[in-house]
This record gives sequence, C-alpha cells and structure tokens, in this order.
Amino acid sequence: MAQFPIYRPRRLRRTEPLRRMVRETRLSADELIAPLFVVHGRGVRNEVASMPGVAQLSVDLLIKEVQELANVGVPAVLLFGIPANKDERGSEAYAADGIVQQAVRAIKDQRPEMVVITDVCLCEFTSHGHCGLVDKGEVLNDPSLELLAQSALSHAQAGADIVAPSDMMDGRVGAIRRALDGAGHSATPILSYAAKYASSFYGPFRDAAQSTPQFGDRRGYQMDPANAEEALREVELDIDEGADAVMVKPALPYLDIIRRVKERFNRPVAAYQVSGEYAMLKAAGKLGWLDEERAMLESLTGIKRAGADLIITYFAKTAATLLRRSG
Ligand code: PBG
Repeated sequence: MAQFPIYRPRRLRRTEPLRRMVRETRLSADELIAPLFVVHGRGVRNEVASMPGVAQLSVDLLIKEVQELANVGVPAVLLFGIPANKDERGSEAYAADGIVQQAVRAIKDQRPEMVVITDVCLCEFTSHGHCGLVDKGEVLNDPSLELLAQSALSHAQAGADIVAPSDMMDGRVGAIRRALDGAGHSATPILSYAAKYASSFYGPFRDAAQSTPQFGDRRGYQMDPANAEEALREVELDIDEGADAVMVKPALPYLDIIRRVKERFNRPVAAYQVSGEYAMLKAAGKLGWLDEERAMLESLTGIKRAGADLIITYFAKTAATLLRRSG
C-alpha cells in the first residue's frame, strides 16, 4: 500500500466534482418505500403528533399522497390500516372490504404502476393490540398463522403487489406462501420482516397505528436487540419458507445485521428506518440541534452503504424530492 506522502487521500476530496466521481454509494428514489396509514372516512387527515409530516389518511386523501409520491419517483408504498372496530381476532385484518383491502383496490385503480406492499399483522386490528391470537395472556403461535395467511390472501386478492408479514410468529412465511399458492397467487412475492427486533424505536408508530399492546410487550415474539446470530437464523428460516426478500428492522441501530444478512444470503434486503428514527431526526431538526436534511440523507446513505437494497422510510417523499433536485 502506498504511504504518505506518495498517497494523499485528500487529493480526491478537493472539489465537489471530484468527490462526486469517486462516491461509492448513491441514493436513488428507486429504492425508497413510503409507509402510509389509512383510516375509514372521507377527507380525514389525522396528523401523528410524534411524527411531524405523517398523518392517518382516508382513502381519498391517500390517493393524493400516492400521486405526489409517484410524481417525485417513489415506486412503492407500504400500507398500514386502522380498522373501524377492533376485536379479539382482528377480524378486519382479513375482511374483503377491510380498510387495507379498500385502499389497495383504490390505489391499483388510480395509479396501477405504484407498487403496493401491505403490512400483514394483526396488532392494528386486535382489541388487545398483540400481533397474534391471545389466550390467558399468552400470544398463541400456530392458531395465529391461519389468520395471518387469510390476511395476506385478502390483500393479494385486492391487488397487492407484495405482502409483508411483520408479526414474527414462527412459520408464518410458509403458511402465507401455501395460502397464496393454493388460491392462484403464486406470483405474489413475500417480503418478510425477518429480523424484527423488540425495539423502543417503534413508539411513535404505535400512536400512528393505534397498536400499543394493552398488556405486556412484544418481547415474547420479536427479537432481543442483543442478538445477531439469531437474526441470521430467522432470515434463513424465512428464506427456506419462501421469502422473496427479507427485512431488517429497525435500521440505524442494526446496520451490522443489514451487512451480515446482505453478505450471507442472496436475496434483496430491505431495511426499515422506523418511526422512532424518524422522530429523533425531526425533533432535533426542529430544535435546531441538527441540520435535518443533511442528517436524513446521511442516515439513508449509511443504511444503503451497510447493504440495504430497499429502504422503507417516512422521509421517502422528502428524500426523493431532494434527490431529484440534485440530479
Ligand atoms: C406491526 C408493525 C410495527 C411496525 C411495523 N409493523 C409495530 C410493532 O411491531 O410494534 C413499526 C414501524 C415503525 O416503528 O415505524 N407489527
């Protein structure tokens, strides 16, 4: 290796055109996915206090948002639904006319080219707020699979392009794959939330999706933040069960996991920059403690540099707008 003074790394950092030429990681709108929250009603826009710029939208306003996203080049959205009624079995999660199913149909009708990904989980739809069925304070695994598979199938039937199970029950990818294939949807891909950690960074999301567990927490099914080997086992299982792409979530505190998953498996890797990551940057930006725009782009670049092929982020529209401007 050439040593100083022969080699001077600063030579190629001297001007912006030079830096641009040797830049190793380039963000693009093509890899961004915008999460959206849909509610019943018309003309409804409920701002989420802990996530400035994010709101629960009724289908009519959701369509406008999808149009704006498409206009700045964001290719995909990830849908979450807030039901009219919650019950113990999360019935609206797999109802043919549930809020998510309605939203999927409306988007595919108005903007067929927008890739619609649906979050498959029960927690927004259950009265207890857990991601599966509950009996005597226990979140049941196998009985929940049937309902998750029904939800995924109802999303595919409504026209979803990709289904994304986020519940972390064991065996759900296989159960969903079988349900889809058995009903003629063998072409619908599964993006599994494979390494999903029990994270404090989901706090603001639970305000947005009204999905806070009514008792206990999710540590009995989501992963322990201290574990990395286990994340690789989770990813391997999901791929064996038929996952087409795998996700690591959250993103910034788990960049090592993103890197290891990317190096070990030959599947597209998605990273979810979650609500708490968004809220932190927004809050510090508002206080003038950080340059929000630069911190946002730096975080997204870091996530991509770590190995993410796709990034789910509440900054999708802002980031895509900036990337478009900077060419
Ligand atoms: C549903 C789900 C959650 C998130 C995505 N899907 C919440 C949770 O597991 O508690 C979090 C997303 C975010 O924080 O932005 N299971």
